[in-house]
Amino acid sequence: MAHCFKNLQMIGLTGCWVMLFLSCAAPKNSGALHEAGTSKSTKGLKDYYKNYFAIGGAVSPMALHTEEAGLILQQFNSLTAENAMKMGLVHPGEEVYNWSGADSIATFAKQNNLKLRGHNLCRHNQTPTWLFKDATGKQVSKEVLLKRLKDHITTVVSRYKGTIFAWDVVNEAISDKKDEYLRHSEWFNICGEEYIAKAFEYAHEADPNALLFYNDYNEIDPIKRDKIYKLVKGLKDAGVPIHGVGLQAHWAINEPNKEALVNMLEQFALPGLKVQITELDISVYPKEHNARGARQVDTDTLLTNEKEQLQIEKYKMCFKVFRKYRKMISGVTFWNIPDRSSWLDNFPVRNRKDYPLLFDKKLNPKKAYWEVINF
Ligand code: G3I
Repeated sequence: MAHCFKNLQMIGLTGCWVMLFLSCAAPKNSGALHEAGTSKSTKGLKDYYKNYFAIGGAVSPMALHTEEAGLILQQFNSLTAENAMKMGLVHPGEEVYNWSGADSIATFAKQNNLKLRGHNLCRHNQTPTWLFKDATGKQVSKEVLLKRLKDHITTVVSRYKGTIFAWDVVNEAISDKKDEYLRHSEWFNICGEEYIAKAFEYAHEADPNALLFYNDYNEIDPIKRDKIYKLVKGLKDAGVPIHGVGLQAHWAINEPNKEALVNMLEQFALPGLKVQITELDISVYPKEHNARGARQVDTDTLLTNEKEQLQIEKYKMCFKVFRKYRKMISGVTFWNIPDRSSWLDNFPVRNRKDYPLLFDKKLNPKKAYWEVINF
């Protein structure tokens, strides 16, 4: 506790906030909940799950300068940078690196003994515009692009060597189209499939101790899942230094069902393959996969009891299954911390408020939280 207070003071917060948080968090029903309502309790998700897996959250550098920092220290033992380590932010020009956001998250993790997942080294989205073009604006060759990828990965991975224990090396390289295997991104169009293995090799050369993950979404869909499996298994069989698969888990009140979740985990239960849930959130709206314009019905954005109940049940079921598969799952990371803001406030519908996390806008644990720790 003393350690926690010291850290709060370092980032400009006082212990009062913690007391306020604890008293607001008074539980209602379960035995496990009892402790959190007393000022003695410092228990958080990370403690309830200490014999299961690490509990992480995706953060912005800004959030660490707000009272969210106190919540993180109480509840989580792992962090991921939501955006700050992505190529477009870190490496906006060929000779320009912008480390401020990424460094501040790395420093916070280090000072507070939190694990840090690196996100990410290669993705179709949030890539800087200079990457694929030469000085005249013409598309670069495969050789040039692979050299740029190597320079980027070597620089970033070396900088955080010893601080970042695991990297999402390649993200979302699989196509969502049923009859297409790999996404036809600029990476693929210029380099073919080879860029994927190369990215892992470059990362491994830069930090042989870092765990290297392939990370993707819609893992619950059997067709997409088979493609993820094919890619990961193929890389492993070819001797590429890949250590695990990141299953993002951007889910909703209507998916996944238990059977789909179990099937997914069973499929990835491969010897020597680590599995992490890397971007968990459970939207209070039915799952939609594509962005769309707002409709009349989208103005109803209150978190009703009905929506919340469905979310509670989904969280409860997911964590029950995660616990059962604890031998293969080494980390569960939420994609953001409280419901104050998340990417789902703008997807699939721009400006439609969502409430996908375990903490509300005031940072209080939601009803789903108590179900997740009640076991
Ligand atoms: O920073 C700019 C700001 O300057 C500008 O005014 C504003 C206007 O829209 O945009 C801001 O950038 C936004 C950025 O998030 C930071 O908030 C981008 O528009 C927005 O597109 C970007 O969204 C991020 C998204 O990745 C991009 O693909 C989300 O925050 C981030 O949560 C999301 O994370 C991804 C994972 O990396 C990979 N898996 C899927 C997951 C959810 O999409």
